[in-house]
Amino acid sequence: MKILVTGGAGYIGSVVAEELLAAGYEVVVFDNLFQGHRQAVPEAVVFVEGDLADRRAIGAVVKEHKPEAIMHFASHTLVGESMQQPFLYLRDNVVNGLNLMAAACEFGVEKFILSSTANLFDDPKRMPIDESEEIVPGSPYGESKNILERSLRWLDKTKGLRYGCLRYFNAAGATKERGEDHDPETHLIPLVLQVAQGIRNKIIIFGDDYDTPDGTCVRDYIHVSDLARAHILALGALDTGSLTYNLGNGQGFSVKEVIEVARKISGHPIPAEVGPRRPGDPATLVAGSEKIKKELGWKARHESLEDIVGSAWEWCKGHPGGYD
Ligand SMILES: NC(=O)c1ccc[n+]([C@@H]2O[C@H](COP(=O)([O-])OP(=O)(O)OC[C@H]3O[C@@H](n4cnc5c(N)ncnc54)[C@H](O)[C@@H]3O)[C@@H](O)[C@H]2O)c1
Repeated sequence: MKILVTGGAGYIGSVVAEELLAAGYEVVVFDNLFQGHRQAVPEAVVFVEGDLADRRAIGAVVKEHKPEAIMHFASHTLVGESMQQPFLYLRDNVVNGLNLMAAACEFGVEKFILSSTANLFDDPKRMPIDESEEIVPGSPYGESKNILERSLRWLDKTKGLRYGCLRYFNAAGATKERGEDHDPETHLIPLVLQVAQGIRNKIIIFGDDYDTPDGTCVRDYIHVSDLARAHILALGALDTGSLTYNLGNGQGFSVKEVIEVARKISGHPIPAEVGPRRPGDPATLVAGSEKIKKELGWKARHESLEDIVGSAWEWCKGHPGGYD
């Protein structure tokens, strides 16, 4: 079975490509290398450099390779940036995603998996956050994913395109060969590990007066390999219909806990300084992933923070300047 992975040179897409190959799938990666790294793309993959804004280019790839399913990771991904530059998200993310869906429908692809986000839930009434939670996008980024999710629901009804919307919380960790290398880096674990590597001199904690056990924000970190396995399970389940899952570890870890674990693992003191809160940061965000556990038998294999941060640290040691 052949799978087209957009954004497969990026963090999560490259790990999913690795796991798809290991599971016996053929993989075609489409990526414009705007954030991704050519070195992150597994060798056995057919790599096509191209931009989803180019309808003809993506149409030609789908027509030529005839994938049985598409996994769509390529996206602008920064909540903060989306507040500054909303059109990158409300126009580009949406139009690029629709270009891909149109190519899928035109050339007979029947299955589509979308990387969605916890940023759909800006005002959660319950914690952990499950699929019954009201959708209140927290930014133009979250809104762009919401529009793509809703588009997929219509394409299921009108064109029979079966979709999987996987709403991840914070992807983290690494495999032996693939890890997180963004520019700019905005995610806590790689930033903390950059301090341990001497690339930054300290980590700033954005507020320590939240209503959480140690006052710092609590987030759900899901290991990128667990995420990849969820994609493969979801792909199999699309035979029986469309699906939507929230995906996380189910456990919350505070900013201070992440820093403390990174200190233990790296043996570096990792100086930390408390700064002001960032606007829009909720105190706690934890995923309720019971539905995917029950329906697909998915379970996080890397539940502990030590395991998640430890795998990221191993990758950093082998890639001191990232991929480049
Ligand atoms: N990292 C997380 O914690 C997280 C959480 C929730 C959702 N997501 C979603 O998961 C997906 C992957 O995230 P990531 O962290 O791996 O991001 P990433 O930036 O590492 O990867 C995205 C990839 O898409 C490519 N790309 C971007 N725009 C493109 C375009 N127009 N045409 C072709 N390629 C393009 C980039 O070059 C990059 O390789 C994104 O859709 C993101 O919104 C990520």
